[in-house]
This record gives sequence, structure tokens and C-alpha cells, in this order.
Amino acid sequence: MALWTVCVLLVIPVLLLYLILWFYNGWGSLFREDFVQPPKPLITDKRSRDKVLKQGFSQDKIPSNLDVVVIGSGAGGLTAATALAKAGKKVLVLEQHDQAGGSCHTFQEHGYEFDVGLHYVGQMHEGGMLRVVMDQLTEGQLQWNLLGSQYDTIKIGHKVYRLHAGKVEFLETLKKQFPGEDESIEKFVAMMKTAVRHVPLVAMLKIMPEWVALLLVRSGLLHWLSPVFRLAESSHQDVISRLTNNKDLQTVFSYLFYGVPPNDSSFLINALLIHHYKRGAWYPRGGSSEIAFHMIPIIERAGGRVLVRASVSRIILTNGKATGVAVQRKEGEVCIYAPIIISDAGIFNTYNQLLPSEIKATPNVSSLLSSLQHGMGCFLVFVGLCGTGEELGLKSTNLWIYPESDLNGLMEKLWSSEWEEICQDLPLMFITFPSAKDPTYQKRHPGHSCMTLLTMTPYKWFSDWSGQTPRHRGEEYHSRKMKLAEHMVEKALQEFPQLEGKIEYMEAATPVSNEYYLRAPLGSMYGAEQNCSRYQCDIISKMRAQTAVPGLYLTGQDVFSSGVAGAVHGGLLCAGAVLNRILYIDLMMLKKRIKRRRAQRSS
Ligand SMILES: Cc1cc2nc3c(=O)[nH]c(=O)nc-3n(C[C@H](O)[C@H](O)[C@H](O)COP(=O)(O)OP(=O)(O)OC[C@H]3O[C@@H](n4cnc5c(N)ncnc54)[C@H](O)[C@@H]3O)c2cc1C
Ligand SMILES: *[C@@H]1O[C@H](CO)[C@@H](O)[C@H](O)[C@H]1NC(C)=O
Ligand SMILES: *[C@@H]1O[C@H](CO)[C@@H](O)[C@H](O)[C@H]1NC(C)=O
Ligand SMILES: *[C@@H]1O[C@H](CO)[C@@H](O)[C@H](O)[C@H]1NC(C)=O
Repeated sequence: MALWTVCVLLVIPVLLLYLILWFYNGWGSLFREDFVQPPKPLITDKRSRDKVLKQGFSQDKIPSNLDVVVIGSGAGGLTAATALAKAGKKVLVLEQHDQAGGSCHTFQEHGYEFDVGLHYVGQMHEGGMLRVVMDQLTEGQLQWNLLGSQYDTIKIGHKVYRLHAGKVEFLETLKKQFPGEDESIEKFVAMMKTAVRHVPLVAMLKIMPEWVALLLVRSGLLHWLSPVFRLAESSHQDVISRLTNNKDLQTVFSYLFYGVPPNDSSFLINALLIHHYKRGAWYPRGGSSEIAFHMIPIIERAGGRVLVRASVSRIILTNGKATGVAVQRKEGEVCIYAPIIISDAGIFNTYNQLLPSEIKATPNVSSLLSSLQHGMGCFLVFVGLCGTGEELGLKSTNLWIYPESDLNGLMEKLWSSEWEEICQDLPLMFITFPSAKDPTYQKRHPGHSCMTLLTMTPYKWFSDWSGQTPRHRGEEYHSRKMKLAEHMVEKALQEFPQLEGKIEYMEAATPVSNEYYLRAPLGSMYGAEQNCSRYQCDIISKMRAQTAVPGLYLTGQDVFSSGVAGAVHGGLLCAGAVLNRILYIDLMMLKKRIKRRRAQRSS
């Protein structure tokens, strides 16, 4: 009883304080229903798109009297920039690559278009929170295309399991495929629901002042508030082993690989991932570059710019406060000043590359960084296929392939093997057909289709070529990567024999490609490793938008969690921290209004 009293006494003042701040910031919401306009026709002309996505850096393009500079134009950087533009801020986004979008950029080669880091996104149903957010951030111009209702297929050895979208269908079809496992499946789904319902409390840890969050954590009061914190801290393997002995079902409960074996991963993250797609999977109509394409004009309308080929070499500090950034140019450094600096470059780049080394040596920062590690790299094969999706019989579904059900063992094998062994026998692979997910692909690239193959890869296999530029890495690099690529294509052709002889183009990307194009340290695919330690409540509280440097904020996938949705939430948390305002309150109220309006319309 006494504990509860303390709890309530602690939480109520914090909430009150924020409500006051929120009123203080005015009634006017950042997000409004009428911001969402009917979608205009898709712009496919390359020159018109480049005018938005590829605005090269030059000094005369830098707006004067900037409010904010954002380093990096990934989903996280652009979300923060767009939300701040909505609040009237003049924001300059600086991107080192030659186009905006970060992991959501696309590239064209031989008449094909490939996306880099967006295969599918969940929770985009009308009226859902993420959809409301994306509609606001793109003013309704970004449209989402629903994948087939059977969105994921999981192959374990020769056995095949299929996931079906829909609250009821997901559960019922899973039960049918695992006879006798009704109870464990229901329990898993119930725990998943708890995780989803309570996850806003996890975000609260990053919104409330750090000392309050840490007090709640250290006193143990947190676990009285909600079971979600225990789920975050629990090893995924421990939880699912208690639910079932069926190894295949355990694999299905952990099938979305991101480089961490179930033994070392957090139940919360795996549960959120599975839930993310449970109601269906979506793909941006027009390809993933549409995300940046529709956010940039909003940033510009508020006086800001998004400039590419602008590599930030350091964050400028004045009396310990972030006051600007230096952009590295051939002719020397260009210094750009603003009272607020936001980094979408990830927590490691920000502390290790962009700030003076004294900062990361401070006890708070060094202890935080030492409890994190770089995530695993990935290996991608981009395959161009001659023929339309119809001709080739391609479906908008994804395939996850594992030779056996022991994901812990398979991840261990991936880590400890040499690349030659893996080229004989790949432990995990993902196959997807981006062209089949987007009805506009045929219009944009007539007679072409594409397939992407993905696996995780330790950086060490390719680290010898770190720092070298693409296409100049030499024969050994090329043959090593092509050997792995060919093995993956061979495996893919076993699944889709009709594609034999249809391959017209093939290219592969390694962790050093990711390092070069996205500045991902050690080529990591999802930023800081999402192992269970990252989701211990004290680390959750410390990994937040605010940094050890006043005036400097983090956005993107290292703030909350990975994935496009994770990076967008990171952006919202970041913009909220800058504005001293809980944007989720604005969004929740908007979501309610939309729901009411929809109900009125249908009655
Ligand atoms: C192969 C792959 C597949 C994926 N598939 C999916 C998927 O299907 N669904 C999903 O939800 N998520 C997926 N993801 C993850 C998702 O794409 C990312 O989690 C998310 O987009 C990250 O956004 P971000 O803004 O945090 O970082 P990023 O998109 O990495 O953006 C960071 C940007 O900062 C720039 N930058 C870094 N340093 C500097 C500097 N010094 N100066 C200037 N610019 C700098 C980089 O060039 C980059 O553009 C995938 C990722 C990969 C790699
Ligand atoms: C996660 O990574 C950190 C940092 O390297 C490490 O100390 C920790 O042991 C890892 N945790 C798990 C559960 O693997
Ligand atoms: C370090 O973190 C603690 C909270 O854990 C905080 O009280 C302290 O002010 C921080 N120190 C610095 C120098 O930021
Ligand atoms: C995973 O954890 C279980 C129990 O915690 C252990 O028995 C097993 O050896 C671990 N597997 C790997 C591959 O680390």
C-alpha cells in the first residue's frame, strides 16, 4: 500500500508538470485533420524527384536564422525535422549521401529500382496511430499498399508455416498449423497484447526527466506500475521456452531476425515486432523514397532545406553547449550555427565521431556506451528479373528460410564461421519481391520485376575493405561477395524455379556498403544492437532524445527501437523533447477525433 502511495505521489506531479507545459505551449495542436489532403498523382519523372531528393549542398542554399540543424535524413531525421517544421521551426537537414532518405532511399540500375531498408511496415491500417502519424508527416500524400493477407511464410527445414493478417485470422490459422498448441499460442498472444497496450509506459521512461525515470527504476517501483517492464527485461528464449516445448513454434515466435539470437533478445521487442505485422503488412505506393519525397516539402514550406552531399564532420560546442555543425567540403569546413542540433547519425557516430573525445569519456556517457554494442551487418542481393510480376508468378509475400529450428545455434554458427563455410550453407535468409508489393512498379519500370535477398553478416568478413569506395575494392572483395550472392540466388531459385533464366541483373551489398552509403558503424543494419541489455529499464531510461550535451538531441532508431516505425517514434520523441511537449498527447487527441468522424460518417 505504502509503495502505491509513493508511486502515485511520484507519477502525478510529473504528469501534471507536463500537462501544464502542454497548456503553456498553447492549445493549437501540431497535428490537424485538415492537414491531410487527398493524394495527388504519383510523380514518377526522375528530374522532378531529384529536384526534391537530391538538392546538393552549397553555402548559398543555407537558410539564415536557422532554428535547428539535423544531421542525417533517414526516417528519424526527417520525422523530427517535419514535426518541428509543423511547429514553425526553420530546419536544415544535412545528408552525407547523394540523396535524402537514409535507409529509405532507393536506387536505379539497368531499368530496375531497388529499395534499401524498407521491405514492409505494419500497423498502417486506417485510424491506427502509426498511420495517423505518417498521414500527418506527409499530409496524406504518402499512400500505403496492403500486401497479400498471407504476408509472411516461414520455412524451417522442409516444413512451411504461414502467417495470416487479421486479429482473428492470425490466431486461428496459427492454431491450425500447430495442433495441440492452442494454449501456448493464446498465452503468447495475450502477452503480446499486454506488451502492446503498455508500451506507451516504456516510452514515458524516455519522456519524463531522467532522474525521475531512474528513481522509478532503482526503487523497483516500476514493476508495480506495469508488467511491461518485466517483459522488456526478460530473455525472449526464457519466456517462450516456458510457453511451449515445440521447437518450430518457438521459432515462429522469434522468426523476424535482426541479428540477436532469442537467448539474448528482449521478449518485448520480439513481441512488438510480431504484433507490428499481425494486422497486415504495407509497402509505400511508389517505393520507399516516397517517404522523404513527401516530407521534404513540408520542411521547406517552413523555410528549411534538406541538402545532400553534406557530410558533417563535427558538432560545434560553445561553452559546452551544441551551437552548430561543421560540414566537410573540399575547399574546407563550412560552419553552420543553430541553437538546436539533432543527430540522426546514431548514438555511436554521434559520440564517437562527431563530438570531442572528452564527452564520451565522462562517466555517464562512457557507462551508457559500454552497455551497448554495434548491431550486426547485413548482406543484400538485388536481383533484376525480366518479365512482369504476373508473367513470373510473383506474390506480395515474404519468405523467411531457416534450415532448422534452433535459431540460437544458427546465429552462433553465423558469428563463429568463416565466410567460405557460410557460402556453402547459409543459416538464415529472407526473400522478398518489392516489385510485387507496389502496383505502380510496372508503370514505372515496364516489363521489369525485382527480388531482394537478405541475410545477416558479421562485419569481419568484409572489414578489410572498410573505407574504400564502391567499385574500387578490388577482385577479392568482388569474388567474395559474389560467391555469397550466388549461393543465395541458388537457394532462392530452389524456392522459385520459374525464375531460372529470368535474371538480368544482380548486385550485392555488404556491411561495408552500408557503412559507406549510410555511415552505419561496422555496417550495422539496425543501429545499436537490440540485445536484452539494451532493454533493461535503466538503459531504456538513459537512451533518449536528450544527450549529455545541452542543445544536442538524438533521433532515429537508437532512441526507441529499430525499423522504420521505430525510427519515426524516435523522431517524435526527439521533436517532443526539443519542443518540451508530449507530441503523443496531440496525436492521441487527433486519433480520437478521426475515429469519431469516421463513426459519424458511417452512421
Ligand atoms: C537491409 C535493411 C532492410 C530493412 N528492412 C526493414 C523493413 O522491412 N521494415 C522496417 O520497418 N525497417 C526495416 N529496416 C530498418 C529501417 O530501415 C531503419 O531502422 C530505419 O530506416 C532507420 O532510420 P534512421 O533515421 O534511424 O537511420 P538511417 O536511415 O540510417 O539514417 C541515418 C542517416 O544519417 C546520415 N548520416 C550519418 N552520419 C552523417 C554525417 N556525419 N553527416 C551527414 N549525414 C550523416 C546517413 O547517411 C543516413 O542517411 C531495414 C534496414 C535495412 C538496412
Ligand atoms: C548486450 O551487449 C552488451 C554490450 O556489448 C553486453 O555487455 C551484454 O552482455 C549483451 N547482452 C546480452 C543479453 O547479450
Ligand atoms: C549523470 O547521470 C546522473 C543520473 O544518473 C545525473 O544525476 C547526473 O547529473 C549526470 N551527470 C552529468 C555530468 O550529466
Ligand atoms: C541458449 O540458452 C539456453 C538456456 O539459457 C542454453 O541451454 C543454450 O545453450 C543457449 N544456446 C546458445 C546457442 O547459446
